Amino acid sequence: MASPTGFIPVRFLLSASLFLLLLPSSLKKGYALKRIETSESRHHTVQVSSLLPASLCNPTTKGSNKKSSLKVVHRNGPCSQLSQDKANTPTLTQILYHDQSRVNSIHSRLAFNSGKTSLQDSQATIPAQSGSMLGSGNYIVTVGLGSPKRDLSLIFDTGSDLTWTQCQPCVKYCYKQREPTFDPSKSTTYSNISCNSASCSQLSSATGNSPGCSTSTCIYGIQYGDSSFSVGYFGQEKLTLTSTDVFDNFQFGCGQNNRGLFGGTAGLLGLGRDQLSIVSQTAKTYGKYFSYCLPSKTSSTGHLTFGKNGVPSTVKFTPLSVNSQGPSFYFIDITGISVGGRQLSISSSVFKTAGTIIDSGTVITRLPPAAYKALRTTFRQQMTKYPMAQPVSILDTCYDLSNYSTVTIPKISFFFSGNLKTDIDLSGTLYVVSASQICLPFAGNSDAADVGIFGNVQQKTLDVVYDVAGGKLGFGPGGCD
Ligand SMILES: *[C@@H]1O[C@H](CO)[C@@H](O)[C@H](O)[C@H]1NC(C)=O
Ligand SMILES: *[C@@H]1O[C@H](CO)[C@@H](O)[C@H](O)[C@H]1NC(C)=O
Repeated sequence: MASPTGFIPVRFLLSASLFLLLLPSSLKKGYALKRIETSESRHHTVQVSSLLPASLCNPTTKGSNKKSSLKVVHRNGPCSQLSQDKANTPTLTQILYHDQSRVNSIHSRLAFNSGKTSLQDSQATIPAQSGSMLGSGNYIVTVGLGSPKRDLSLIFDTGSDLTWTQCQPCVKYCYKQREPTFDPSKSTTYSNISCNSASCSQLSSATGNSPGCSTSTCIYGIQYGDSSFSVGYFGQEKLTLTSTDVFDNFQFGCGQNNRGLFGGTAGLLGLGRDQLSIVSQTAKTYGKYFSYCLPSKTSSTGHLTFGKNGVPSTVKFTPLSVNSQGPSFYFIDITGISVGGRQLSISSSVFKTAGTIIDSGTVITRLPPAAYKALRTTFRQQMTKYPMAQPVSILDTCYDLSNYSTVTIPKISFFFSGNLKTDIDLSGTLYVVSASQICLPFAGNSDAADVGIFGNVQQKTLDVVYDVAGGKLGFGPGGCD
């Protein structure tokens, strides 16, 4: 049944016009269609001043009262304690540079696993300079580890599986982090995992590296690119998500040699779909079901929620597929894109060629080259009244809006298999460097065979629901501010 790439072969091709024709017959013909497609449904009208970043934290209340829910903050915004350390705050251009490193790592990982390229080729595509698969546009949550519990701020990442934190005594090296480094010798519930345990051997698929062994303690190693890695003891410990959500013997990496661009966080929370991820380890309690909302601004907050509780009925689903090329990744199928109510003409084979993953750690959505070209052309056509500005890094469609108080921006919608239409929030339509440089936050892959990535800018304010056991992924509007 499965095609060679593991995708569900049956797809629904959805064009906006087809969708409208299926509406009740009381709404007749072109006349009615025009009235449905009001200007409001096709554009955002917005004050330019409201697009600029705020310097004070203004936490959202939406979704914050859910059970089993953690507060999500952007690592570099005023709601994050880490942002007080200016040395750890990258510029927007640096964020885009590191984002490309993460994308290159994902592409080479998938290409290598599929046998598309030789080992030598795929290594050559790993960025040579300070590449980090983590990227730097990350969101963090705070969890409790140990007894007594210590609070640790971790990057949450749907693109990897192993959870790890830096650990005392930092045998080789620990980078500077904001919170005190976790010390297992001060916890009554920590224990090492032995080399001959089944979970030790699972490290191979969770990290891509075979585990090591040191005086019968299992050793993990994970690298995110050529400059970021964590190596240490594989251990188990009490994990406290909320006061009522506590897990004994949570398996994690107790990092003794850690380097890279983790920006003052204590480590990483792995939400991938492989066996050692927190999603799999808590499956008995939450049934492999979690959701999150990423805030529209770094000055607001979102949530990461485990379990099925409180998912609004406005959330609609698309099939989630597994792909043997990338067992950690969540694959979805894009079927189309519209801009300002106009369906782009993109052949369906364009999205099928390489498939798409959804990733919490990639900032800018990457599209197949032909799809990005169509998006850019139509967006530019609908923005001709505004003067263009210099490109920024990978973003080639930028505008100088400094002379305007109010602007009208075409709405962008994505269509996914299973008749799911998702409207991208304004915060996912514009990437604001300054009022005189506001860019379309999408980029094209250089190779049509590279996987597409639905990135975190385009996920902002949406409730993003992962029903891993049920094989579906949902999007709902207005999950947070
Ligand atoms: C875990 O294993 C390491 C390496 O063998 C050892 O140094 C450390 O003391 C062990 N920790 C515990 C709590 O057993
Ligand atoms: C903004 O307005 C000023 C004054 O009219 C003009 O000189 C300048 O070229 C305008 N800038 C842009 C980017 O349109």
